[in-house]
Amino acid sequence: MTEQSNGSGSARRGRFITLEGGEGAGKSTQVRLLVSRLEERGIEVVATREPGGSPQAEALRDVLLSGRAARFGPRGEAILFSAARIDHVDKIIEPALARGAWVVSDRFADSTRAYQGALGNLEQRFILELERVAIANARPDLTIFLDIPPEAGLLRVSQRRNGEPADRFEAEGIAFHAALRKAFRDIAKAEPERCVTIYALAPEGDVAAEIWREVETRLLEEAPKKSSRTRRKHAAQERA
Ligand code: TMP
Repeated sequence: MTEQSNGSGSARRGRFITLEGGEGAGKSTQVRLLVSRLEERGIEVVATREPGGSPQAEALRDVLLSGRAARFGPRGEAILFSAARIDHVDKIIEPALARGAWVVSDRFADSTRAYQGALGNLEQRFILELERVAIANARPDLTIFLDIPPEAGLLRVSQRRNGEPADRFEAEGIAFHAALRKAFRDIAKAEPERCVTIYALAPEGDVAAEIWREVETRLLEEAPKKSSRTRRKHAAQERA
């Protein structure tokens, strides 16, 4: 029996993990590290990202990050992020979860709450209603907020950019990025059963270890037990 089967022949729904945070928090690296650790446990994992993740949504990503969607105003931009999300959920996330795979997404609906909320001063009811329509049953089981002081995150991003122009959101001022950080912290505080905040300026390996600890305690310990043969193999690997 694998982590994805429930022993009765039908797939157990997979788990959905999202990583969120401001610019330069190191999400992509941590997604990669988490995915390989889950795969080592024999779990099928789909790594994805937003905006994007499906071909249609990736086409919208270019429009959104270039700033061409800004002319629609904050509400219109939020709707376009949600349109991309609908396609991503329908084509990639839901089918994966339904077959028992785990999904790890670099950003998801909390980014709309934080970015479009902070940028457009949009009323919460509007954003939450959009979210309800866009994600349907695809609610994350665990959301990791990588928390970084905005000055440090923006510095990392500008070093990585290597002279390329900043995108639509990187180009916003420091007050916006500070508001974003507060927005993510507020979401984490309001939903502690789903969210955990991890300080992202710590060394990469320490951040990865903290993420893994959360995944193990919150999601893996409740997963069905492996066969004793698989367990013995893991125990031997851990001893080695
Ligand atoms: P990233 O892939 O480098 O994180 O860039 C994605 C950018 O898009 C980032 O600046 C955050 C922004 N964004 C939103 O404003 N709203 C959203 O719903 C999502 C998913 C991303």
